[in-house]
Amino acid sequence: MAKIISLVSRKGGAGKSTTAQAMAAGFTAKGYRVLSVDLDGQASLTHIMAADYAGRTIFDVMRGACSIRDAVQHTGAGDIISANNSLDDVEINGDGRELLLKQTLEPLASDYDLILLDTVAAFDILTLNALTASTGVIIPAQCDILNLNALKDSYDLIQSARENVNAGLKIYGVLLTRINSRSKTAAQIAEMFKEAAAAMNTRVFSSQIRESATVQRAQALQKNLLTFRPNGNAARNYQDFINELEIILKMESD
Ligand SMILES: Nc1ncnc2c1ncn2[C@@H]1O[C@H](COP(=O)(O)OP(=O)(O)O)[C@@H](O)[C@H]1O
Ligand SMILES: [Mg+2]
Repeated sequence: MAKIISLVSRKGGAGKSTTAQAMAAGFTAKGYRVLSVDLDGQASLTHIMAADYAGRTIFDVMRGACSIRDAVQHTGAGDIISANNSLDDVEINGDGRELLLKQTLEPLASDYDLILLDTVAAFDILTLNALTASTGVIIPAQCDILNLNALKDSYDLIQSARENVNAGLKIYGVLLTRINSRSKTAAQIAEMFKEAAAAMNTRVFSSQIRESATVQRAQALQKNLLTFRPNGNAARNYQDFINELEIILKMESD
């Protein structure tokens, strides 16, 4: 049965899509069967993974316009269901409207080990569907005060999903991104993130992702960050994070 992990944060530019791509690439390289689902009309993950924007979106599947297998595209970093701007302002009405994605993904649960849901910063109905469908959440956060403030919003949303639709929803942790390792302020804010995470009964991952121009270069060229410059800081940091997360996922399976 696939574990379903949402990348969630109230803040745009937190590193959700970048982290989703790195996780897709890293776990695929480890032999996991990975499906990424782009739930953001801006389609950043679709772009980064060099998938086809004109492809069927998850919403096409949710509204019954095609089968889920017809929406899956294959890439070197695992499979993806892509997004495009038709996902902006999606409306889903009726009872159980937050359950639709969970039901839509069910036929694929035994085809994959990991399903990654990349969400939009605005907490829309697709994000609520992602939290309903997920085993757990990762909260990427740029290490600054605005992202620290936004952490509370992300937590409130997760809590409301737990209370209403998904009591078992885990928070795997907060991943600090775009860290400037020489900045004292960043180090202080990282400490504040640790306190905030502890208050949410979760952790800040000990792997942290440094700010690196290579990330933007790889994305502009639609290259896999982990193989584009494998010895660069960002690729090594993401590899460490993937190893750290793998241990956490294995422990919960035991
Ligand atoms: N570690 C990093 N170093 C430098 N730039 C980064 C890093 N992580 C992300 N970025 C850049 O920051 C921007 C936002 O990242 P993205 O992953 O799209 O965030 P989100 O999905 O949360 O909106 C992108 O332009 C991306 O290239
Ligand atoms: Mg994004």
